Amino acid sequence: MTRTPNAPSAPSGVDAASAPSGVDAASAPSGASAVDAVDTPVVLRATGLSVVHRTRSGPLHAVSGVDVTLRERRTLALVGESGSGKSSIAKALLRLPPPTTGTVTLDGTDLAGLSPRALRALRPRMQMVFQDPVSSLNPRRTVRDLVAEPLDAHPDPSVDRAAVVDQQLEAVGLPVALFGDRRPAQLSGGQAQRVAIARALAAEPRVLIADEAVSALDVSAQATVLNLLRRLTEERGLASLFISHDLGVVRAVSDDVAVLHLGRLCEQGPTEEVLAAPAHPYTAALLAAVPEPGRPLGDTGLVPADPPSPLDPPSGCRFRTRCPFADDRCASEVPRLREVAPGRTVACHRPLTS
Ligand SMILES: Nc1ncnc2c1ncn2[C@@H]1O[C@H](COP(=O)(O)OP(=O)(O)OP(=O)(O)O)[C@@H](O)[C@H]1O
Ligand code: SF4
Ligand SMILES: [Mg+2]
Repeated sequence: MTRTPNAPSAPSGVDAASAPSGVDAASAPSGASAVDAVDTPVVLRATGLSVVHRTRSGPLHAVSGVDVTLRERRTLALVGESGSGKSSIAKALLRLPPPTTGTVTLDGTDLAGLSPRALRALRPRMQMVFQDPVSSLNPRRTVRDLVAEPLDAHPDPSVDRAAVVDQQLEAVGLPVALFGDRRPAQLSGGQAQRVAIARALAAEPRVLIADEAVSALDVSAQATVLNLLRRLTEERGLASLFISHDLGVVRAVSDDVAVLHLGRLCEQGPTEEVLAAPAHPYTAALLAAVPEPGRPLGDTGLVPADPPSPLDPPSGCRFRTRCPFADDRCASEVPRLREVAPGRTVACHRPLTS
């Protein structure tokens, strides 16, 4: 039975978690329903992912039993506080390093079953873009060479290197005639991130993982890069994972959202629906705690500042020590993700209802 705790109900901060100004609202994710999504081909599927880091203080449970499905032409946002395990999930998908447990399939191929050589050949299909574009690019190389790097790694005489570089730079709005000879230090943060995206595209990926890819950019560069990621996901048929702690950018860029707390998924569903009516108390608290785009999660005190240590996570629900609705069951029984509406799953014994 679904019970409705007293508060938080409709999060007051939802409207404020809007797109950064300049994000093209007309072409914002369609909010295509979960039902539509089911018809969209699955590109990457991860099941039962766990990541345990071995530390001097003992095993650190960064990710515990997470499923991720990325579909063609759709963007899934992964949102959660610092240390919730977002980057650990991204790296596990790429097997850098492999997950402690769980399987990852790309277009139906189980990555764990591949020989090192076959995995190397498949790696370019999964590209990652990072937070700090300038330091992720070799400072000594020109933009032209940086974008050509994936081609140089697997030379193919039938591929016209110059034409590919030209095309990818054009796609990110940086004409090769103006930018081809520049080096990373001669680019703004937004331009450098667009070069990093052009380079990722040159590898003809199926999956694009953007890990805090706009966090270091000013608002106008953020809007440019978000529009670009959305358009390219659509045009190139990519399956994108967008990692962020900023609900404003999540709203602007993603079709679906997955909320992560201390390595476990709290809830998942179409972004518009989840942000309009969160069902998990943690999601509601995050929304209430983000009165303006770009503000760090937990900054307002609505979410208690310090999550428990992943070295010694709470029994039962990992949110229970911060949750105003926790009861005895929450301490003894791990809440499993279950469907509360078509395409919406929530891991809570007492989900919020709108
Ligand atoms: N190589 C590692 N060795 C030991 N612990 C690690 C390692 N990498 C991550 N951790 C720990 O795993 C947990 C999850 O880290 P992760 O980097 O995945 O979080 P995140 O959600 O990406 O955080 P942020 O928003 O700060 O990037 C944290 O407690 C972190 O300290
Ligand atoms: S299961 Fe977790 S989030 Fe849900 S009421 Fe219990 S402590 Fe709160
Ligand atoms: Mg991270």
